[in-house]
Amino acid sequence: MPIIPISDQALQDAATCLQQGGLVAFPTETVYGLGAIARDDKAVASIFAAKNRPQFNPLISHFADADNALAAGRKTDIASLLASHFWPGPLTLILERHKDSPISLLASAGSDSVAVRVPYHEIARRLIALTGWPIVAPSANPSGRISPSNAAHVEEGLGSACDMILDGGPCRSGLESTVIDCRNNKAILLRPGPITAEQIKEQTGLILATPENKGGDGTAPLASPGQLASHYAPLARVRLNATTKQQDEVFIGFGTVPDGVTADFNLSESGDIQEAAAHLFALLHEADKRALNSIAFAPIPMSGLGLAINDRLSRAAAPRDSGKVL
Ligand code: TXA
Ligand code: MG
Repeated sequence: MPIIPISDQALQDAATCLQQGGLVAFPTETVYGLGAIARDDKAVASIFAAKNRPQFNPLISHFADADNALAAGRKTDIASLLASHFWPGPLTLILERHKDSPISLLASAGSDSVAVRVPYHEIARRLIALTGWPIVAPSANPSGRISPSNAAHVEEGLGSACDMILDGGPCRSGLESTVIDCRNNKAILLRPGPITAEQIKEQTGLILATPENKGGDGTAPLASPGQLASHYAPLARVRLNATTKQQDEVFIGFGTVPDGVTADFNLSESGDIQEAAAHLFALLHEADKRALNSIAFAPIPMSGLGLAINDRLSRAAAPRDSGKVL
């Protein structure tokens, strides 16, 4: 499908397309999403088909405002607190479903929870408001592959499945939203992301828990079902914490590159972790085009946003199921 620059007309066309059951890829501040109207079972099903996504992996619903997002599930005090500090923004909250939820059961993948988020990106919120309904949107990449941080990535991976691709330029954050389970008035970190545990503690006083069963072997549904061991996988093998460059390898540095190594790319020459996050998926796409054998990553510090980057990288590097990308 053609990539369409943003205009009032393009947004109106995209809203109409969604209302008619179509799939529209659109920018958010994290990554591009592949959108469908959340209550439209058939359109939601076509997202699973387009991405070849395991059916047990539920989808995030996106809203134009916090009141509607919190009303889509059973709101807890902790959810309201997090929403008031970090929405609109790159934070997804898991709530208990209730019977009047406007979200397709398929989007919950059979569970009794819903995932809700109010994105910061203006185009995303305008599009949602124009349709008048929440929009489910997984990252717009084939399941298990690298997330798209620009419109060209979407076209490469899922072009034929999209009815429209709205081009809002590169995504600012480049990492998918932080996911927090707020059911039972707790705060459990299911996926690290752009809003860090430190930021949450600083601004709300909340200390996040991490689920004991996180990081399983990729076969069973986990607390956050999307957290498969092998995920974000490029075609080439991925080697982490590399301080040398091997033959037929693309080396991606972070900050100062080790002596004797010529880096092919650098996540951030100045060692800025935010810049590194924003570049991560685009560089993985680039490196994968060049790599004959493997992609090596220099060590990334394990703090702040570095936790989310290392989380994505360890999944990209995880052994694949008999060479098959999950
Ligand atoms: O930044 C983002 O979150 C992007 C943009 C487009 O908003 N979306 C995104 O969606 O990353 P996706 O589908 O690629 O990842 C959603 C994650 C998965 O790990 C999924 O398992 C988890 O959220 N998730 C969704 N619904 C859930 C639920 N009801 N309970 C637990 N985890 C859920
Ligand atoms: Mg994804």
